[in-house]
Amino acid sequence: MAERMTILVAGATGQQGGSVARALVRRGHRVRGLTRSAEKIKDLKALGIEGVRGDLTDKASLAPALRGVDAFFFMTTPFGPDFSVDVEKEVLQGTTAIDAAVGAHVPHVVMSSVASADGGTGIPHFESKAEVERHLKASGLRYTVTRPVAFMEMYGSPWMLPQLQAGVLAQPMPASTRQQIVAVRDIGEIAARAIENPSKAAGKTVELAGDALTMTDIAARLSAKLGRPVRYVEQPDEEVLQRMGEDGMRMFRFFREKGYRVDIPALEREWGYRMTRFDEYLKDARLEPRPGPAWG
Ligand SMILES: NC(=O)c1ccc[n+]([C@@H]2O[C@H](COP(=O)([O-])OP(=O)(O)OC[C@H]3O[C@@H](n4cnc5c(N)ncnc54)[C@H](OP(=O)(O)O)[C@@H]3O)[C@@H](O)[C@H]2O)c1
Repeated sequence: MAERMTILVAGATGQQGGSVARALVRRGHRVRGLTRSAEKIKDLKALGIEGVRGDLTDKASLAPALRGVDAFFFMTTPFGPDFSVDVEKEVLQGTTAIDAAVGAHVPHVVMSSVASADGGTGIPHFESKAEVERHLKASGLRYTVTRPVAFMEMYGSPWMLPQLQAGVLAQPMPASTRQQIVAVRDIGEIAARAIENPSKAAGKTVELAGDALTMTDIAARLSAKLGRPVRYVEQPDEEVLQRMGEDGMRMFRFFREKGYRVDIPALEREWGYRMTRFDEYLKDARLEPRPGPAWG
């Protein structure tokens, strides 16, 4: 094992931060998990994570949590519990986290953004992450940016599962659109490697994907997993606009016109890690309703 480190993980009660925290605990590190909720502290404790109260938009609350850490992982989110998107809130989370890390002289900051954040996509919740990335790069901190594509986990999300169980996968993209996807556990694995190897990871932006499949392929694999036919249907834009608004619609336009472009073999070579394929993810996945955020 690498030297035992102390790491503050923001988002430890969520998908990405949870995956990073678990990967670090597995490797024997001391993990502090940031949460705004006193009730979630005991859940973190059961995972071997020391829960600490704090809010990414409140710099003073982050100072004690950051004291003495070797590294700080954070993600940001513009999403409310419904599909609402507040990109100003997301920028505030990120810039406050970075300013707090500067104040605490944190040796290494790892931020999770989104693939193609700097691609001029015009998607508000990608542009907000690009803004946070710029703030990080200008901060003088030693940093690494991880940039995941769409999560494989979204197929088990509460807004997706009911349609799958009814035999339909509906997205506003032609069936032949190839979508890059990543297993959330791989975000944790790569972030943990970056944290353990700061000199290798410093200044790098690492885009993360584990598979690239057409919508037809994805429906076929979900069908095999669920043991019932799942038919792919191209969803009308109006439905998406109504449900997810302009932000969501712009994201799907990006998926169908350009899409993520992660070089998966190069990523695997660089980090000595085989990314999870969708079949492998599905083998152990429990596709059942769970509370969770919007995708993207
Ligand atoms: N889903 C996808 O396919 C996908 C792909 C690429 C990128 N992304 C991006 O991933 C992000 C969402 O990540 P996720 O799915 O891991 O999140 P998540 O599961 O929804 O969890 C959100 C986490 O953020 C924490 N949090 C929210 N506001 C906070 C605040 N003000 N201060 C401190 N902590 C705060 C929550 O902690 P507490 O509630 O415990 O305080 C929770 O741990 C979004 O920005 C999205 O754009 C998603």
